[in-house]
Amino acid sequence: MILVTGATGTVGRAVIDGLLALDMPVRALARRPETARLPESVEVVRADLGEPDSLAPALRGVDRVFLLSTGPELSKHDANIVAAAEDSGVHHIVKLSSGRAGDDAATDPIPMWHRAGEAAIREGGVPWTMVRPLGFMSNALHWIPSIRAADTVRAPFGQGRIAVVDPADIAAVAVKSLVEQGHSGNVYALSGPQPLSPGEQTEILAEVLGRPLRYVETSAAESRSAMLDFGVGPEMADAIMSLRATALESFTSVVHPTVAQVTGRPPRSFRDWALGHRAEFLN
Ligand SMILES: NC(=O)c1ccc[n+]([C@@H]2O[C@H](COP(=O)([O-])OP(=O)(O)OC[C@H]3O[C@@H](n4cnc5c(N)ncnc54)[C@H](OP(=O)(O)O)[C@@H]3O)[C@@H](O)[C@H]2O)c1
Repeated sequence: MILVTGATGTVGRAVIDGLLALDMPVRALARRPETARLPESVEVVRADLGEPDSLAPALRGVDRVFLLSTGPELSKHDANIVAAAEDSGVHHIVKLSSGRAGDDAATDPIPMWHRAGEAAIREGGVPWTMVRPLGFMSNALHWIPSIRAADTVRAPFGQGRIAVVDPADIAAVAVKSLVEQGHSGNVYALSGPQPLSPGEQTEILAEVLGRPLRYVETSAAESRSAMLDFGVGPEMADAIMSLRATALESFTSVVHPTVAQVTGRPPRSFRDWALGHRAEFLN
């Protein structure tokens, strides 16, 4: 049995679909099973990564774990899973981490949270695989309201390029790591096939949607304020803005060969991703 955490989110849900396609038995950990909306063949267990007592029942009969959490507490969540996994029959944890978790010079919050989470896993007794993606292509879904309202993409750091990766490719790497031998102890840095600025992403979206779109560079302050309006807490908004600012650094443009190496097929382009999500952008 494979336990998938983050099952209601972008990557976790794609991991579930990938495992079901291989007829693997899947259990999903969810804080609110009643709203999880997962396929019927998935066993859903109520648990919270922040509540250690809830994890032993969730791990009963589980041999592998896909581990994903978010926010300032995520390293505690990782440590909680490791502690519970050590007392169960789990023999492999695949953690969704962050592109710069391995770079000690990265002192902004999100890589630091993940670095601490990775450390907890490495110090535990369960074999692991770390999956470290760069920015997700799906972050462009945040542009839907302004595209629908005003054919405009508003985003900061217009000079920055990120080799954004399709969450489906992240999930494909995670699924391979869970179901195949030979991935234990590996660290997978993941990117998409091409570094893109927000303006270049806007041009691709315009082609895919079949109408002109305008890119407007916003200030970091405006972008942070929009996140607060959207309901993101101040600590998380600051952490996301610090991470976004790194788009101006060269490492975000590096194209990694890992998706192809692990899955045997090239990573999907931003155009492919946009075509798959076209309906969500249309009015
Ligand atoms: N976006 C990017 O560009 C990017 C780049 C690199 C790495 N990452 C990393 O990717 C992860 C986010 O992945 P995602 O976008 O797929 O996630 P997401 O769609 O934001 O979903 C988050 C998931 O985590 C679950 N979760 C949060 N707190 C939990 C808790 N206390 N107990 C149990 N479950 C909990 C949520 O469950 P509920 O349904 O209960 O809320 C949800 O299923 C983060 O670790 C982030 O740092 C993101």
